[in-house]
Amino acid sequence: MKFNNYMGRYFEEKNNILYIDGVSAADLVKEYGTPLYVFSERAIRENCRSYKYSIEKNYNGKGLALYASKAFSCLAIYHIIAEEGLGADVVSGGELYTALKAGMDPSLIYFHGNNKTDDELRMAAESGIGHVVVDNREELIRLNSIAAETGRIINISFRIKPGIDAHTHEAVMTGQIDSKFGVALENGEAFEICDFARTLPNVNLVGVHCHIGSQIFDTEPFTAAAEVMINFMAELREKTGTELKELNLGGGFGIRYLPSDNHKSYEEFMSKVSAKIKEICKERDFPVPFVLVEPGRSIVGTAGITLYTIGSVKNIKNVRTYVSVDGGMTDNPRFALYGSAYNMDIATRLTDKKDTKVTVAGKCCESGDLLAKDIYLQYPVGGDILAVYCTGAYNYSMASNYNRIPRPAVALINDGESRIIVKKEKYSDLIINDVP
Ligand code: LLP
Repeated sequence: MKFNNYMGRYFEEKNNILYIDGVSAADLVKEYGTPLYVFSERAIRENCRSYKYSIEKNYNGKGLALYASKAFSCLAIYHIIAEEGLGADVVSGGELYTALKAGMDPSLIYFHGNNKTDDELRMAAESGIGHVVVDNREELIRLNSIAAETGRIINISFRIKPGIDAHTHEAVMTGQIDSKFGVALENGEAFEICDFARTLPNVNLVGVHCHIGSQIFDTEPFTAAAEVMINFMAELREKTGTELKELNLGGGFGIRYLPSDNHKSYEEFMSKVSAKIKEICKERDFPVPFVLVEPGRSIVGTAGITLYTIGSVKNIKNVRTYVSVDGGMTDNPRFALYGSAYNMDIATRLTDKKDTKVTVAGKCCESGDLLAKDIYLQYPVGGDILAVYCTGAYNYSMASNYNRIPRPAVALINDGESRIIVKKEKYSDLIINDVP
């Protein structure tokens, strides 16, 4: 029997137990313990392929998907995305270091960030990465000098705020003028910086970039952003004679955390956006640019789950029932930060009725350390395995050692076999940088 209509492809129910691509959650827990992040390699690869396919179909291959590795960064994931022919968006020296160590082709790496340090810019220049997405004028000047010192000319684009309301959570909305990211269109900043870049010898302005936010379900903000950006490129050509070749539309495609989420296929986003780009390009007599997208969440989000062991179940009469697990905000801070909702199950009693109202708590010394509030679960008992779905993005990458809790291991499942791609931290790892 297929398990829970929205994730049946990779997650299945057999004899009341959750299976991840053919491997039982109970066996994984026996082998590796909990908490444990588990990824389906097939799911990650299929998501990569759907973007590749869309680019082939909508742009005749004249485009590239960059995996936004802030969603989940480790050596194994860069290997997978490189094998699938995607590039990578990195946002720090640490992500860049990991991508390079994984053997990623530097020319397929795009370096982002609103406050790149000189060391990071030097590392990017020296490693010969393909592209720096410059955030502001001051960074542009620093990058030009660092590029000169390293004897290189660096391809750049600018991060532009297109002034679009992305209809998403305030904390992950980035396309509006009041944002720390990029330069604005409304006040002329974007024209001014593009014009200025032409005067600098060690940078080569090839394109523009925008990212309007994350976990967006509507296609309309993406098509609106594409329209604004193409119009900007056409106006820039009219005003300054500079014809930019690349348009990077960022990431942000929403995923289905809950069965009730109104998810659209990436294909729908991609085809609507490409239709809009072609329409405006025709209107403005502007050549269709090389189009980049930067999906993060939609590559790894639904491919991952987290397994926990339930400890205490505390029923406070007429108040609520707290179910505590052996992880929490240290491995998944998203409920504490954004109130994000997750779907979850007792992994060994999947088909039992979900009729017990519970609040799922972590083990940190912090009342806000919750994973869910007032949700319905199969009747929970201490020792049960709790599976939380869709934890592949922004969980491991946002994990912390608060309360000196070691970060969990990450297991990757491929064709019925599991392997560890990130080891569980040991207590000795926790003091590795301490100086007595
Ligand atoms: N490109 C840029 C420039 C970005 O800033 C981001 C995400 C992405 C691409 C990828 O967006 P995605 O496809 O994953 O939505 N920690 C938050 C999400 C922050 C997103 C930051 N930027 C969360 O847990 O929801």
